[in-house]
Amino acid sequence: MKFTPINGPLRGTLQVPGDKSISHRCVMFGSIAKGVTEVSGFLNSADCLSTIACFRNMGIEIETGPERGHVRIHGKGIHGLTAPKDTLDCGNSGTTTRLISGILAGQKFPSRLTGDASIQRRPMNRIIDPLTQMGASVRSEKDNGCSPLVIRPSHLHGIDYRSPVASAQVKSCILLAGLYADGRTSVIEPAPSRNHTELMLKGFGADITTERCRASVLPEPDLRGISVSVPGDISSAAYFIAAALMVPGSCVLLKNVGINPTRDGILEVVKAMGGSIERMNVKESGGERSADLLIRAQKLHGCRIGGPLIPRLIDELPVIAVLAAHAEGTTTITDAGELRVKESDRLDAIVTSLGAMGADVTGTADGMIIRGGRPLTGACIDSRMDHRIAMSFAVASLIADGPVEIRNAECVNISYPDFYRDLASLRRI
Ligand code: S3P
Repeated sequence: MKFTPINGPLRGTLQVPGDKSISHRCVMFGSIAKGVTEVSGFLNSADCLSTIACFRNMGIEIETGPERGHVRIHGKGIHGLTAPKDTLDCGNSGTTTRLISGILAGQKFPSRLTGDASIQRRPMNRIIDPLTQMGASVRSEKDNGCSPLVIRPSHLHGIDYRSPVASAQVKSCILLAGLYADGRTSVIEPAPSRNHTELMLKGFGADITTERCRASVLPEPDLRGISVSVPGDISSAAYFIAAALMVPGSCVLLKNVGINPTRDGILEVVKAMGGSIERMNVKESGGERSADLLIRAQKLHGCRIGGPLIPRLIDELPVIAVLAAHAEGTTTITDAGELRVKESDRLDAIVTSLGAMGADVTGTADGMIIRGGRPLTGACIDSRMDHRIAMSFAVASLIADGPVEIRNAECVNISYPDFYRDLASLRRI
């Protein structure tokens, strides 16, 4: 797909699609709760549709529509799933693969799950190890620590697990297995990761307690269907936040964006870069905070990004790097080695792609140093079939001085099928 530089400001109002993490969880938890779970604002993207397909495959009736973003899940309780008719296909989705594994470890039937080429390269030992400690039988079919995974029924024990990574997928997997264990299960993380599982499971009636870096769950809860209103995804909003900050004269209003404090790191970075974003109509539903965000173009400077801030903006780092290349001065990103094991090696993808556009960027083992302020040039960017790389460089193209071509740009359907249409809608005004 070809992108031409912009010759005017971005203007307008957008409702970005529903939060991906929350949408996955509604389907999973709704399926193992008793009764109906009604969801509004659900993200209809390839990743979340993979989750729906997996639970339909295990006998759960899930209706979608007629209104956009409306999903009705007819849950059958924590022991209500039935053996899948065939292999569960998690597509490109790490969240589906890792969270569902926790649920499957506690079932009385065997299962096999797989996914696309990217998912078959991503590390699964991070869930296989703790699940095995709980007594689960989870095997990497090719013995390479990756999917396909084969899970067999077994008796699960509650454990106290000290996770080496701050990962909500790992934490959630263990907590979900903990619903089927014979005692309390706790996960302690090196830094707090997103807490949607804890908030939502509590809403469904689970006995969950949380401290800063520890979450504990008691087994055999009586989960009951609830209504969930999914806020807009701050990870999708991030592209428009960056674009509106960079393109001179822009003013964009993003409606009902999730600003859960475990996810709002990008807002903190914009502040550290000298920018300000106005929050309006702040509200809360199911423990999840959201707000309208008003973003105007501003001059920004470099900053340091590392430590416990990283899990709060992990998915936004590609577009934050683009923002840093535009800002004056140096931005240093550290402690972001997790980016190497996302849908692609995102550290490498960012450094290579920004370099191709003429930015002054040096990759490090766990981050990068960006000396910003150099004009960006046109280039050909390989998305590596990674939705967040495609969207980040579509944003970079707005401020380039020549056309940018993005290969396999359609991979945005993983998290944001209408991304290019929404971006174009801001350009036309
Ligand atoms: C997610 C957690 C994060 C994030 C991913 C979604 C989730 O992954 O990168 O896009 O929904 O739990 P990790 O938990 O592996 O960091």
